[in-house]
Amino acid sequence: MINKELEKRNIPDFFGNGEFAVSSADEWLEKKNGLKELFLREEYGFLPKKLTPSIKTETQGINFAGKAKWESIYFTFENEGKEHTVKTELILPANKKNIPVFLCVNFVPEIPNKYCPTEEIIDNGFGVFHFCYTDVSSDDTDFTNGLSGLFERSEENTDDFSKISIWSYMASACMDYLCTREEVDKNNVAIIGHSRLGKTALLTSALDERFILTCANESGCCGAAISRGKTKENESIKEITSVFPHWFCKNYFKYIDNIDATPFDQHMLLSMIAPRYLMVGGAIEDVWADNEGQLLACHMASYSWKLFGKHGLVAPEKEALCVNDAFLDGEVGFYLREGSHFFSRYDWNVYMKKFKEIIKRDI
Ligand code: GCU
Repeated sequence: MINKELEKRNIPDFFGNGEFAVSSADEWLEKKNGLKELFLREEYGFLPKKLTPSIKTETQGINFAGKAKWESIYFTFENEGKEHTVKTELILPANKKNIPVFLCVNFVPEIPNKYCPTEEIIDNGFGVFHFCYTDVSSDDTDFTNGLSGLFERSEENTDDFSKISIWSYMASACMDYLCTREEVDKNNVAIIGHSRLGKTALLTSALDERFILTCANESGCCGAAISRGKTKENESIKEITSVFPHWFCKNYFKYIDNIDATPFDQHMLLSMIAPRYLMVGGAIEDVWADNEGQLLACHMASYSWKLFGKHGLVAPEKEALCVNDAFLDGEVGFYLREGSHFFSRYDWNVYMKKFKEIIKRDI
């Protein structure tokens, strides 16, 4: 199946030829900054300058049947006389140290919620740090509100930040904060997001190497799926940029009708996560997200894991991708569950299981 997809999609051998040709881990590390820049310049837009937010903590006490300590953490960012505050929620198992944490970029502010089963996460020994993406900046073409509104952004500049890059900016600020908390195991922080927020998680982890595990749930087009060679049922670059133009910088629009001219494909975004861990989740009915394209990207991205002497994706060559396929043994994992587009308990359980394997100790 992987070989068939490779033939069908006709993706240039970017790691074998041209600017990003690499044959050793050292070469890879040398070229990686250039690759980051390429994705920012051509697809998501450069993140604004880093600000140091002021932090205010409000304790919500011991909660979740006495099992967890809950705090609301307010991040206030200031720039050129303007300020914006983002409320986040930190829930840590009570009376524990060295806690591995999921940073969850989510669609709604309240916790628990249908996408974030807080109590189950705590019961599994993890903490969760949570924020709602629209509290950072609205999910539309208005760049004057929230964190976006603090920075100059010009329609003339073809590589100015997009909404995906500003959400990602917030995720890295959250990581900065987690590193200041003594109860947190800084070496074991995962970033997790669904769909557009899976795209955000991937970009964040490609840029910010402090995340040990990245979970991109059904991130699809412009996330974990290869952009070339999609079927009519899969979301195309043309479709995504017409409905969600604010997710991308202007430069990306030049490829809409000529995807073959893109000097990269999405597997190269994934490849920047090496040698850390990556999980890509799909659902059989979520054809829009292009499951074959996501599996193929995991396979092709594995080139960079191999440079580090790792495996990347470990998957057998099969006739077709089937429901309940799960290739979870390597540093890059892919699975295809039953059902439709959703961030389900099933998905969380797969990600938590993998995280426990990575940590290699009882939590
Ligand atoms: C739309 C969009 C997808 C996106 C999804 C989501 O379906 O086309 O690209 O992943 O929304 O974020 O739920």
